[in-house]
Amino acid sequence: MKNSTVEDKTALNVEGLVKKYGKEKALKGVSFKIEGGDFLGLLGPNGAGKTTTIKILTGLTKLTEGGVYYYGRDFSSHPGEAKRVIGMVPQQSNLDRDLTAFQNLYLHTILHGIPKPLRKEKIDEALEFAGLREYRDRQVKTFSGGMRRRLVIVRALLHEPRILFLDEPTVGLDPQIRRTLWEFILKVNQVKGTAILLTTHYIEEAEKLCGRVLIINRGRIIAEGPPDDLKKDIGGYVLEIFLEDRIEEEFFSSREDALERLKEYDHSCKVREVTLEDVFLKLTGRRINV
Ligand SMILES: Nc1ncnc2c1ncn2[C@@H]1O[C@H](COP(=O)(O)OP(=O)(O)OP(=O)(O)O)[C@@H](O)[C@H]1O
Ligand SMILES: [Mg+2]
Repeated sequence: MKNSTVEDKTALNVEGLVKKYGKEKALKGVSFKIEGGDFLGLLGPNGAGKTTTIKILTGLTKLTEGGVYYYGRDFSSHPGEAKRVIGMVPQQSNLDRDLTAFQNLYLHTILHGIPKPLRKEKIDEALEFAGLREYRDRQVKTFSGGMRRRLVIVRALLHEPRILFLDEPTVGLDPQIRRTLWEFILKVNQVKGTAILLTTHYIEEAEKLCGRVLIINRGRIIAEGPPDDLKKDIGGYVLEIFLEDRIEEEFFSSREDALERLKEYDHSCKVREVTLEDVFLKLTGRRINV
């Protein structure tokens, strides 16, 4: 018989999270699981509750109701143990701009109790992994946006967490740097095997990176699954009809059916493959990015 070890358990189990700020509920019962090595995306518009979820899962804010379990252990009663297995990259970068890359990482090794004889080696490895070896002794204020993001990510990995939380990791970056960062984040998941929970309101980011996506709206998970499955559920193809004051959408399971229908309209029309934005629109009547 197999021993029941920590390894056998779900990495993270989130049950019925509710978060109230005053009378307002920012989260209204959010539940999901992360298994080892998963790449999960939390996709939703501004104010949906993405950061609130991550803050609860990393102990930065308290939940009002519900439960969070890392490898079967209750986070609220074993916070220290859980913090050893999680890493966090916040929405707002919290690097010290006046310190060098090395010094920023060194502070983290102290905070996480990494033994002194191991610190330098781990930091050098991290800088190498991030492609920042030659920038080791430069002040962070001289770094580009993309370099800073890579530095914050490897900092969060220094204590070798099993689950990494990334809150809007590519917001504000130009499209080309965003793509480079996507490759870097995928490398963390694939090479290190770290499970990732990433929040984003970029449709393409969720589609390209995540094996599974949770779509969140106004504090509730409204859809969950691999991006392709979520798209197939609404049809796969969309016919956009450009009316004077709005765009109407009709969904079809094949391009041929959509093109057939297009012939019935006098308006300007377009057939294209659906995206997760269409999934969101179908479920909520609104767009993720307005
Ligand atoms: N400290 C706070 N006090 C009061 N209300 C808050 C606080 N933090 C968040 N909220 C509210 O909770 C809701 C969810 O906010 P949250 O920051 O989790 O959204 P988000 O999905 O991360 O949005 P964004 O895409 O803009 O980062 C919003 O309505 C927000 O105004
Ligand atoms: Mg946020």
